[in-house]
Amino acid sequence: MIVNYMISISKKSLIKILILSVFILCITSLKAQSLNEIDKAITIKIDSIITLLTVEEKIAMCHAQSKFSSTGVPRLGVPELWMSDGPHGIRAEMNWDNWNYANWTNDYITAFPALTCLAATFNPALSKDYGVSLGEEARYRKKDVLLGPGVNIYRTPLNGRNFEYMGEDPFLASTMVVPYIHGVQQSGVATCVKHYALNNQEHSRGHINVEVSDRALHEIYLPAFKAAIIDGESWSIMGAYNKFRGEHCCHNQILLNDILKDKWRFDGVVISDWGGTHDTDQSIYNGLDIEMGTPSNNNISKRFPYNNNFLGQSFLDKIISGQVKESILDDKVKRILRLMYRTSLNKDRPFGSINNKAHSNTAYKVATEGIVLLKNKNTLLPIDNSSDLTIAVIGENATKSMTTGGGSSELKAANEVSPLKGLRKRFKNANIIYSLGYSSENKTKKDKLNLKKEAISIAKTADVVFFIGGLNKNNSQDSEGADRQHYNLPYNQDELIESIAKVNKNTVVVLISGNAVSMPWRNKVMSIVQSWYLGSEAGNAIASVLNGEVNPSGKLPFSFPKKLSDNAAHFYGKLSYPGNGETQYYKEDILVGYRWHDTKSIKPEFAFGYGMTYTSFKLSNIISDKKTYNSVGTIKISCKVKNTGDVTGKEVIQVYVGKKNSKVKRALKELKGFKKISILKGGLEKIEIKIAVDKLAFYDEKISDWNVEKGDYIIYVGNSSDNISKQIPITII
Ligand code: GLC
Repeated sequence: MIVNYMISISKKSLIKILILSVFILCITSLKAQSLNEIDKAITIKIDSIITLLTVEEKIAMCHAQSKFSSTGVPRLGVPELWMSDGPHGIRAEMNWDNWNYANWTNDYITAFPALTCLAATFNPALSKDYGVSLGEEARYRKKDVLLGPGVNIYRTPLNGRNFEYMGEDPFLASTMVVPYIHGVQQSGVATCVKHYALNNQEHSRGHINVEVSDRALHEIYLPAFKAAIIDGESWSIMGAYNKFRGEHCCHNQILLNDILKDKWRFDGVVISDWGGTHDTDQSIYNGLDIEMGTPSNNNISKRFPYNNNFLGQSFLDKIISGQVKESILDDKVKRILRLMYRTSLNKDRPFGSINNKAHSNTAYKVATEGIVLLKNKNTLLPIDNSSDLTIAVIGENATKSMTTGGGSSELKAANEVSPLKGLRKRFKNANIIYSLGYSSENKTKKDKLNLKKEAISIAKTADVVFFIGGLNKNNSQDSEGADRQHYNLPYNQDELIESIAKVNKNTVVVLISGNAVSMPWRNKVMSIVQSWYLGSEAGNAIASVLNGEVNPSGKLPFSFPKKLSDNAAHFYGKLSYPGNGETQYYKEDILVGYRWHDTKSIKPEFAFGYGMTYTSFKLSNIISDKKTYNSVGTIKISCKVKNTGDVTGKEVIQVYVGKKNSKVKRALKELKGFKKISILKGGLEKIEIKIAVDKLAFYDEKISDWNVEKGDYIIYVGNSSDNISKQIPITII
């Protein structure tokens, strides 16, 4: 009887499930059909507009009319395209035709943390929130194209722009960039993923010719761009300044036509970097759609000073003379019109919003989740903010603005909480004494000595010292246009830290930077916190982590080599970095970052994927669902994670894969999956990470395609690239 009863229930529920799934199927196919219909309708409109445009009007749409806009067609109501930096917030308004700010009083914005911080969260859901907030601010500021995100791979710790990017691992950058793009574009603002490609240094960026193998190109330097275009569906992409195999990336046949437009089926717009266009024929034929920033004569009294662009008068002359088919021009204009229908001509796009609590909360959450706890001897941290301690805060970075400077990603923040301000707000009962300690400005030797003496004197009497230093956005620090000149901390911070640690054992070093630095004082201080350029909420986030309001959960998105020569790019000398002024060779090939450290057994100061917590976690039951897989299967790794400490915390379980006895050169292991999970104190959770077997493929230069090598692999499961809890052998047949 009961069995019949159970069968009848299961029958009913089965019928319900069937009806529901048919309903969902209909909806999705209706939705897909309607999207298809919309796409078809837009294509019809685009084709009809093309017939109404004169050749001059079409040419004008393919280049700038001002520093940050390209031309529309007023007589037909075809709008201009308005673009704005940058990846971490909407840049202040610039003048029409020069690089000065317009000094508007209504272009203050929320400064979000730099993308290294976002990558360090290892939290794709947070990346979506980030993109949504940023897109709303871009929309409110009436921008159609946001010039970001940047996803160039971190190859050398000296690159001035690493702070704008998402670290050294292509899988991490690929996973984190997609939700960011979806978030921004849901406000009807196009992202412009950059700098495509191989712009991995600022040194001679405008002309350096990068030589790299196809394998490293496809396995290391392109994946984040491919994910941005195919999975993120970015509506535009920015060419890089440098050359690749002899052609500038802004008009490069291999990168733009063969890979981007043909292989990846990109239907958006290729925009040059500002001043990155150098040749008319290459611009016409090699995939460039909009030329921006080519130096004009800066004289707006002359009509169309931008007509001397490579895609300007000389392009027009070639069309009129019949030397170039008009269909080449039409393809560019159709792409631009499609971008407009996705943005400025999209009548359904929202209004956006700016400087609101939601955006500040997003900035704060990303900042607190991105901060990485690197060392915490005797669990000195967190410091209870109810205590009436004397806290010495030392260092210029405790007060220096980090949203200004750094090049095109600089911001005019409506609000920026400095670390000192955040600490004073949070540690209300403490006696906080501040001392500059060092200065990035020119000081006499005497002044520098006095700064140091004053810092040491307050350190002596304090219960605990928060040294807040690192790099900054000054030239040849973390800044566009130039690389760092050396690997250690600038302004004699190393010496100052050692002197402070000598007089106070409770020294906490907080580094604010976008790059790795050497740490000769590592064993002399109690705690080390890697903070990033955290934007408007910087001080609140740092204070929350130092007092334990937030339990740190960030993981390093790039390795910290002990010394510069331990880094792959620097191991191979000048021809590898920075090149000979004309060309540079990526001799380390696929062994970038931890791939190099692991495979060459060079222990880093701190490893990719490393980050501590105020609690502790234990992994158990780490298993794969099978031992053998075929090349189209999915590997399921599951494990249990127990919070063995006494505070709630978040952990990032990382899954790396390595091929044993490969027929080609391979890194020991490569990140292929990760999951961040929050667990209550004493809690136990089970997680599962899926990896498609085809993601284990290497790029086979013999067939110019991906190839899943059969044979034995090892699955490495842990919470850092250098802390593996279990190795699981599997076989691909
Ligand atoms: C700069 C940067 C690019 C920026 C553009 C506009 O040179 O390389 O990232 O978006 O010009 O400012």
